Amino acid sequence: MSSELPTLDGTAALVTGGTSGIGAAIARALLRAGTPVALTGRDGEGAARAAQELLDETGTECVGLALDVTEDASCAAMVAALEGFRPIEWLVNNAGFAETMGSISPGNLDLARRLMEVNFFGPMRLFGALAPGMLERGSGRVVQVASSAALQGYPYVSSYVASKHALMGWTRSAALECAPKGIGVSALCPHYVDTPMTDRSIETMREKTGRSEEDLRAFLAGQNPGGALVTVDEVAEAAMDLLRSDRSGVVHELIGGSTAVIEEGVPIGAR
Ligand SMILES: NC(=O)c1ccc[n+]([C@@H]2O[C@H](COP(=O)([O-])OP(=O)(O)OC[C@H]3O[C@@H](n4cnc5c(N)ncnc54)[C@H](OP(=O)(O)O)[C@@H]3O)[C@@H](O)[C@H]2O)c1
Repeated sequence: MSSELPTLDGTAALVTGGTSGIGAAIARALLRAGTPVALTGRDGEGAARAAQELLDETGTECVGLALDVTEDASCAAMVAALEGFRPIEWLVNNAGFAETMGSISPGNLDLARRLMEVNFFGPMRLFGALAPGMLERGSGRVVQVASSAALQGYPYVSSYVASKHALMGWTRSAALECAPKGIGVSALCPHYVDTPMTDRSIETMREKTGRSEEDLRAFLAGQNPGGALVTVDEVAEAAMDLLRSDRSGVVHELIGGSTAVIEEGVPIGAR
């Protein structure tokens, strides 16, 4: 990934859940483009290790910070730690998790609450913490790593689907509110991506069905409209496009092998 972001002196990007999968790939793309990055994970030491590896690999400044997106105190501590780093101009809300459960299973209500805390209230909490700085500067970009599950239903993941639909609804409204203030809020909707999250889904399916890992991986790839698992590099490239965009409310759908703009958003700066 070669194109750089328009640089504002002294600013940086924050990638939540940057320790693995999609978050790590987006952090790497930002760093390769020369943008300093703070990445987060629930384990501060693990985040610091992941950041050091990316710094060694790319030569661009990268720090790892502890953050549990479900906790106000953790968020406040991370914001305090950022004061010794740089103001955040680019926020990538990527941290999230998925778990399968039948819609009418008694545990589904609890699962829905946990999923909403991470996948929906988490991004809201981060936006609440970092948007004031962006509003003060009159510039900033937010990318929500949503999902194809924000656009359609899937069996046995109703609570995950609900949490991502909530995120998408919130994003569409915030995008319109923020555009006149110089801030872009946009979303990525990948279908199945080749990450540790998908590996865990395959493992669960393997235990339940006895089918081989290879068979299940091919099955999930076949579920994607593009017939292949989305790669983390495809997601990172789409994230960089959104971070560079002069529009707010843009939605990219990644189907495996190609990416389409399915919502064009509005120009940033337009009232
Ligand atoms: N994989 C897919 O097929 C797929 C498809 C569409 C969308 N997505 C979305 O993409 C995002 C990243 O998923 P991935 O596939 O890259 O999964 P992953 O490899 O499991 O990474 C998830 C990241 O989220 C972090 N995280 C989880 N819970 C957290 C919490 N409470 N507070 C802070 N960080 C937390 C994890 O960090 P620590 O464990 O270090 O805390 C980890 O870095 C998620 O939002 C997911 O819903 C994934």
